Amino acid sequence: LFHAQEYVKVLNEALEMAGNASPEAAEAIAKINEELELDYIREDFDKLLNSMGEGSGRIRSIVTTLRSFSRLDHSEFKAVDLNEGLESSLLMLQNKLKPNIKINKHYGNLPLVKCHAGQINQVFYALIDNALDAIDSSKKPGELTIRTASEPGWVTISVRDTGTGIPAEIQDKIFDPFFTTKPVGSGTGLGLSVCYQVIVQAHGGRINCVSRVGEGTELIVEIPLTNQRG
Ligand SMILES: Nc1ncnc2c1ncn2[C@@H]1O[C@H](COP(=O)(O)OP(=O)(O)OP(=O)(O)O)[C@@H](O)[C@H]1O
Ligand SMILES: [Mg+2]
Repeated sequence: LFHAQEYVKVLNEALEMAGNASPEAAEAIAKINEELELDYIREDFDKLLNSMGEGSGRIRSIVTTLRSFSRLDHSEFKAVDLNEGLESSLLMLQNKLKPNIKINKHYGNLPLVKCHAGQINQVFYALIDNALDAIDSSKKPGELTIRTASEPGWVTISVRDTGTGIPAEIQDKIFDPFFTTKPVGSGTGLGLSVCYQVIVQAHGGRINCVSRVGEGTELIVEIPLTNQRG
């Protein structure tokens, strides 16, 4: 884009010089100008290039976010800052953050945790996604509270919402693959089953749900720091 801009600048200068050098050229240029609305194009072209530049900058930052979210640019098992993972998950869900949802963040001092960062970020994403859905379905303003803490041998991540809550009779089904209460087309029912696989099977951790209808839900993830491979 920079080169295109420079190119147009040089062309403009050449046109001007040609116009100044001979009256015939000036006349010809004036005619072309009339036909093509050259002045307008000149001005507009610069604006167009600028907005192309802005657009590609925005695309670049989206791609960077996606790469760091999925950790494409890192080896699979890596020591990462989980608070950062929560932040990028929130960023990915920006379009769901309505003004009537208050976000509380209580990030504890966490050690770097060796894990499959891309998978762990998917878990954070799924939990926050569900929490925002639950607040939205409650048709009331609500709060999302994210808390992290570390204790010897473990880190704990909690995602709590003041949404609809989960009826006791379905609380033990929520981690089942394809279990969903959402309308057809809006939920696959895979979010929490993937969380379970990632946390319990792949990382030897625990995931628990505490919920009360009408009050809200808290999903608590615990990841062990022992047996850290790599
Ligand atoms: N924070 C929450 N508050 C209320 N209900 C929840 C919450 N999290 C999960 N649920 C219930 O558990 C079900 C399963 O959740 P899960 O994330 O596995 O699937 P889903 O959200 O329905 O679909 P998706 O595959 O898009 O995540 C949900 O349909 C919902 O009924
Ligand atoms: Mg979900």
